[in-house]
This record gives sequence, C-alpha cells and structure tokens, in this order.
Amino acid sequence: MALQLLMKKRIAIFASGSGSNAQKLMELYKRNPEVEIALVLTNNPDAYVLQRADNFEIPTHIFDRNEFYRTDNIIDLLKNLDIDLIVLAGFLWLIPKKLVSEYPGRIVNIHPAILPKFGGKGMYGDHVHNAVMAAGETEGGITIHYVNENYDEGEYIYQGKYKIEKGDSLEMIKFKGQQLEHQHYPRIIDGLIKKIKK
Ligand code: GAR
Repeated sequence: MALQLLMKKRIAIFASGSGSNAQKLMELYKRNPEVEIALVLTNNPDAYVLQRADNFEIPTHIFDRNEFYRTDNIIDLLKNLDIDLIVLAGFLWLIPKKLVSEYPGRIVNIHPAILPKFGGKGMYGDHVHNAVMAAGETEGGITIHYVNENYDEGEYIYQGKYKIEKGDSLEMIKFKGQQLEHQHYPRIIDGLIKKIKK
C-alpha cells in the first residue's frame, strides 16, 4: 500500500474559468489507484472550476499575481505534493519562466484553435472563436501542446479539426470545439502520465 502511494502519479490542474476540461480529468481519475488530481489552482476566486473540484473533494489553491510571479510559493506547493504533470485547462496567465524550468516537458496546455493560427496573448475562449469566424475559416480545431515561457508556442502533441459549415453560429463553433477537447484532452493526458517514470 505504501509503495503504491509512492508510485502514484499526481496531476495539478491550473484553470481560470468554468473548468469543463478539468472536470473530464476529475471524472477519469476519480478513485484511480494509479493517478490522482492532487490540486486545482486558480487565479480567479469566482471560477466555477473551484466548485467542480469541491464536488470531487480535490484540494484547491487560489493565488494572485504577486504570489504567482514574485514568490516561489506555487513551486513549493507543487513540489511538496510531488506533482508529476501540470495540466492547463483554460488557464489565462502566462506561466513564469521559473515554473517552466522546474517542470520541463511536464506542463501541457489545450488551445481552442489550430495553432499557430489564432494563438498568442489575448487569444483565449470566445476571442479565439470570434477571430476564427471573422476570418471566414472553413475549419476549426484544437491544439494540445507543451508549454514554454511564451503564449501558445511549445511543441505540439496533438491537433484535431472540425468543419465549420456556412451559417454556423459562435455557439455552434464553440460546441464543436468543446466536443473535440473533451474527447481528446483526457486521452492525451492519460497517455503522457502513463509514460512518466517515478
Ligand atoms: C477551452 O476551450 C480551452 O481550449 C481554452 O479555454 C477553454 C476553457 O474551457 N483555453 C485557451 O483559450 C488558452 N489560450 P473550460 O474551462 O470549460 O475547460
């Protein structure tokens, strides 16, 4: 039992909003003997992801800019919990260089577009979907990628696409993108976490 606990892989999720992707991971790893969501962190005290974490009895941590960018508190917290993989699920702040270098190849993000198009600072949520619509794209998609110190620039792990039909509303595009995210993010994260050796 003790050895099993030591060998258990631990994920920390960073999210700023609703957390529907986070929820898919919480469902996947609920009462899982090998993988656990050990902590949900947010910059937004009103984020619905906090409620979702509570529902799954997952501890949470709310931080502000000062704590995130000017202290080592978050890194200490992650190290103390023996976190193996950091998953960004709708997290809107840039990851500080120091955190990236403490977790090389261990931070993953999901973006609601086929990068490198429609990425970069300010490109999140509806901003992305509006830009995709305004550009008259016939395809939308998602990108799952490693995180470096720049917005949306790390190595791609998976890209998926959906068709945009003439007359699709913003809501429809969002829905198609979200379906794709929910289908693939848990699958990709599970593949990555299983490859991590403890
Ligand atoms: C997701 O669509 C994710 O791709 C996007 O935020 C949404 C969060 O939804 N992330 C970005 O735009 C990052 N630049 P959720 O809170 O329901 O998981």
